[in-house]
Amino acid sequence: MIGLYHPRARGRCRMTKKPDPFTVPFGSILCDWMTTARADDGPFVYRGSPEPFGDLSISPAAHVLHYGSAIFEGLKAHRQVDGSVAIFRLDSHVARMVTSASRLRLPEIDPSLLHQMIVDAVAANADEVPDPPGSLYIRPTLIGTGADIGAAAHPASSALLFVVNSPVGDYFKGGIRPLTLQLETSTPRTVPQFGMVKCGANYAMALGPTLDAMAGNEAIDQVLFATEGDITETGASNFFLADDERIVTRHLDESFLHGVTRDSVIQLARHFGYEVEERSIDPEELVDWSERGEAFLSGTAAGVAPVGTILYSGKTLTIGTGQPGPNTLRLRQALTDAQTGAAPDTFVWRTPVGSQ
Ligand SMILES: Cc1ncc(COP(=O)(O)O)c(C=O)c1O
Repeated sequence: MIGLYHPRARGRCRMTKKPDPFTVPFGSILCDWMTTARADDGPFVYRGSPEPFGDLSISPAAHVLHYGSAIFEGLKAHRQVDGSVAIFRLDSHVARMVTSASRLRLPEIDPSLLHQMIVDAVAANADEVPDPPGSLYIRPTLIGTGADIGAAAHPASSALLFVVNSPVGDYFKGGIRPLTLQLETSTPRTVPQFGMVKCGANYAMALGPTLDAMAGNEAIDQVLFATEGDITETGASNFFLADDERIVTRHLDESFLHGVTRDSVIQLARHFGYEVEERSIDPEELVDWSERGEAFLSGTAAGVAPVGTILYSGKTLTIGTGQPGPNTLRLRQALTDAQTGAAPDTFVWRTPVGSQ
């Protein structure tokens, strides 16, 4: 049950022993503290302090269970080189969640309230932030809880906003290594007008096509969606091409998730003097690019992840040497340094968090 928080409970609830995040699947460990806020026919009310992690209690008639009113975010807090903890690109993730809520007609989120809920959750769990390359994954979630199975054509009358944390290691097993992608050109990941919304339904829709595309080949790490002759994203990251002069990625529209890491990579690349091309990428272009360039994925979970092979129409395209390229590694390092405080906070991306 949630809502049991009492200041004295914090003293009683000691950090439970957890496995090393590098030895278990990404996201499978959950921290001891969470924050919650409820909206009942009005704005969200947050009591202003974390509560022990626990199960949720919702009605079997809750809107989310029938009509999919669920959105979420994924961001990270990193242990800094000086031992402190900072959240990376907090305000950008809050802004994206506010947009997602509005697209699903869920109650409006006050950005400063969500900001505070995230900071409070991370502060309460600060002892559980692993050292790099590990980090603390942050999962703010909003669900429609209004109990009314007749509300298919109505927004949820009440909602629950919560923030849980998970100490994580590598997203892709084996750390930094060249990934293998399967290009999917016939089935879209989701409907075009909802691609930019981070809602659970998008992931539900992508699951079948992703599993089908991966079936029979254990080497495939991710499916790269390229419907209507245009490469957009995988189920967890955005896609880039790179060489010594430029990086190329799909221009923004509503059809895919506007990755915060995508934006970080673009800003870092411009800072280094790369030309940034935001445009359509035709799958046929990969053939030429594979002979002279690099490819990588960008996302909160994986950071900048090199792509070594793309399987496309029965062909196996080896990208460059098939190994992580120098430009990919340079951007990856720059991103890691920005996240962990090894580089100055040039773009004001870090939010320091004091422990409680
Ligand atoms: C479908 C999809 N595309 C792209 C991304 C990358 O977004 P970000 O860099 O904000 O993590 C994600 C990650 O959540 C995703 O799920």
